[in-house]
Amino acid sequence: MKKFTILYIILGILLTATLSGFLDYDPAQQWHATADSTFPQPANFPAPVYKFANNKYSTIKVELGRRLFYDGQLSKNGTISCGTCHIQSTAFSHHGHRLSHGINDSVGSRNAPPLQNLAWATSFMWDGGVSDLDLQPLVPISSHVEMGESIDSVLYKLRRDPYYPAYFGAAFGSRDITTARLMQALSQFMTAMISANSKYDRVMRGEGPTFTPEEAQGYTVFKAQCASCHKEPFFTDHSFRNNGLYPYSDDVGRMTITTLPADKYRFKVPSLRNIALTAPYMHDGRFKNLDFVLQHYTSDVQSTDNLDPLLTQASGRTGLTLTGNDKLALKAFLHTLTDSSFMRNKSLGEVNICPQCIRY
Ligand code: HEC
Ligand code: HEC
Repeated sequence: MKKFTILYIILGILLTATLSGFLDYDPAQQWHATADSTFPQPANFPAPVYKFANNKYSTIKVELGRRLFYDGQLSKNGTISCGTCHIQSTAFSHHGHRLSHGINDSVGSRNAPPLQNLAWATSFMWDGGVSDLDLQPLVPISSHVEMGESIDSVLYKLRRDPYYPAYFGAAFGSRDITTARLMQALSQFMTAMISANSKYDRVMRGEGPTFTPEEAQGYTVFKAQCASCHKEPFFTDHSFRNNGLYPYSDDVGRMTITTLPADKYRFKVPSLRNIALTAPYMHDGRFKNLDFVLQHYTSDVQSTDNLDPLLTQASGRTGLTLTGNDKLALKAFLHTLTDSSFMRNKSLGEVNICPQCIRY
């Protein structure tokens, strides 16, 4: 009998310990241990443009932002997260989709760009319609063709969630969940999406690898023909230009925002990092591979309003001159911009928070 009493007591103690363990469980606790406030600055990049002074970098905020990024609760019916259209395995682009697909399978009007090195970007969207990364997530959340939800309703859901108040507490010092904090957490996560470890980067930093003769030739062609717009090290000069695409739709690009006729058909020069993974290409995803892109630059540049002067030769001919050999070399060089460690970076990966989220 006595034996059983002792056993019951031991069992009782174990049960209470386990239960109170569950009750006390604060998922945010474990983050404290790994909190780090040093922005992981790549050696071959300039200082970031993002104003960390207003939103101090911390790995806890990044971790909170990551959860939000992959959480379907940010959409009206719980099915679409940011990660639905921005998929890590293709540098956070919507690979294979010409135009983006959002809530209730509605189709947007532009191609979902990769998300990378956003801490150095000066404007966002193909037309630069957003100038502050902290404001960017408001657009997809409330867009009828993306997530179709109101911010108030997102805040309501997060405040009632069993974990988010604790997460926000760990990240911001109090459990209040506000629009500003939601935006700041998401943008912190996006500033952590750094792609700076491609073969190109390692060659530039002198870490050992060297270009093959073909890649080196491609780099020379690239510097002569492409780099004035696709400027190193981000492979964009962050400006808006017309690269002579045939205007299939009434999308006038930058002019949508500024209303200036001088901005008609100008779109943001996109980065070419991880370009081998992010097809289809251009703001409307019209080209399904790099061969079509190169064919465009050599043979199909249209002389529409505001065609960039760099794409008109002294003879008056529009487009660039590239031999078949130049094209092969260029493609070999563009492949050195693939950063597989970015795609494999577990700290940017999906958190299993939205099992019902749709993948298109
Ligand atoms: C339905 C698909 C879809 C969803 C969901 C979505 N996006 Fe996007 N995202 C896009 C498209 C399309 C664009 C380009 C829009 C444009 O230029 O007009 C874009 C652009 C962006 C950009 C600008 C990138 C740049 O380099 O200019 C950022 C940042 C971004 N999205 C972040 C987010 C975040 C954060 C979420 C979740 C709150 C999100 N997106 C949800 C499709 C989506
Ligand atoms: C005059 C400036 C300019 C020059 C020169 C230029 N580009 Fe572009 N490039 C752009 C602009 C602007 C876009 C986006 C156009 C759009 O979508 O409307 C673009 C888009 C691209 C894209 C699609 C990227 C994506 O994510 O969809 C690729 C690939 C590309 N350029 C490669 C090149 C290569 C290779 C060269 C040299 C042979 C080159 N570009 C020369 C301005 C330029």
